[in-house]
Formats: sequence, structure tokens, C-alpha cells
Amino acid sequence: MKVILYMAMTANGMIARENDETPWSGIEWKNYAKEVRKHKALILGRRTYEIMKKSGEFKRVGNPFTVVVTSQSIKSDGNCVFAISPEKAVSIMEERKIKNAVLGGGASLNASFMKSGLVGEIILDVEPMIFGKGIKLFAEENFESYLSLVGIRNLSKNTIQLRYKVRKV
Ligand SMILES: NC(=O)c1ccc[n+]([C@@H]2O[C@H](COP(=O)([O-])OP(=O)(O)OC[C@H]3O[C@@H](n4cnc5c(N)ncnc54)[C@H](OP(=O)(O)O)[C@@H]3O)[C@@H](O)[C@H]2O)c1
Repeated sequence: MKVILYMAMTANGMIARENDETPWSGIEWKNYAKEVRKHKALILGRRTYEIMKKSGEFKRVGNPFTVVVTSQSIKSDGNCVFAISPEKAVSIMEERKIKNAVLGGGASLNASFMKSGLVGEIILDVEPMIFGKGIKLFAEENFESYLSLVGIRNLSKNTIQLRYKVRKV
């Protein structure tokens, strides 16, 4: 199974304001929703799951099958199940014969997946903004990763999308 990390970020690599706000362009939201709808499978950190649930975002992305990674023991909730680790999240997806799943953040889970070597592809939508403070693309963790650029396109005059393959070392 391939895990596709998909994040919108500022030009300096912030994925949200300090207060969790994500003021992305309409075209970015549309592309994110399109990618999630295509694969019908989403992996989220517990904080991002709670933010999306509160703001009613699951409907917008087509109510995909969702695995939420958490150290807590939480009962499954509709289309959402809970997993104790990135490895467990991937094995739940594989049991369902899911070929591609979108890893939808946030910073802490992104870093956990990179550290575990479980990300196959990365899509970054770069918005024309800079936040001096905020939530970084990856929480601080001890990992390095090497990428191949496989695509670059304009989503609009101001927003670009970068696609990378994660090289196996
Ligand atoms: N720009 C974008 O595209 C985008 C997308 C998504 C989110 N965001 C932003 O990202 C922010 C949230 O990121 P965040 O880093 O604070 O939270 P997060 O990654 O969404 O969730 C963190 C939680 O996930 C669980 N977790 C992470 N790694 C784990 C592991 N290896 N094993 C077990 N559980 C693990 C833990 O849950 P427990 O505490 O329950 O154990 C942890 O507290 C928000 O501001 C959100 O708006 C932006």
C-alpha cells in the first residue's frame, strides 16, 4: 500500500497558524478534497481528526474510510477507526485491500510516518504566505529522507503543487 502525504503549507513550511487556523485558498482545498475522494482512504493524527470533525470537513472530502493514530484507546466512530501506531494504521488499510491512502497530517503524525519510512509520495501545495510562527510541516524528530521531484504544476497564479517520490535508501 502507498501512503501519500498531502499538505498545504506556506512558502516557509508552516502547515497552520499557532492557533491551528489554516487559511488556504479555495483551489487548494478543492485539490485536497479531490485527492482524498480519489483514494477514499485517509490517515490522520488525533488532533487533526478532532479539528476536522469539529469543522465538519469529512463531508467535504467525501467521508473516506479514516484511520486515526492515537496512543489512547478510542472506540471506532462511524467510518473512523483508531490505531496505536503508523504501522498499525497501514496494516488496517492493507487488510481492507486499500492501494493508496492520503496521510493528512498533522505535524506530529507526519514526522512519525517519515521516521518509520512509511511514506511513498509527498504532495505539497505551496501557498503565497509566510508565517513567522506556526505549526511546521514536520514536528522535530530524528530522521532524514531523500526525494525525487516527479511533478510541479500551478494550481493558480499564486499557488504551486510539488510532487515528490520518497527514495528508498
Ligand atoms: N496544512 C495542512 O494541510 C494541514 C493538514 C492537517 C493538519 N494541519 C494542522 O496541523 C495541526 C495538528 O498537528 P499536530 O502535530 O498538533 O497534531 P496531529 O499530528 O494531528 O496529532 C497528534 C496526535 O496524533 C497521535 N500520534 C502522532 N504520532 C503518533 C504515534 N507515532 N503513535 C501514536 N499516536 C501518535 C497522538 O495522539 P494522542 O495524543 O491521542 O496519543 C498525538 O498527540 C493543526 O494545526 C492542523 O490545523 C494542517
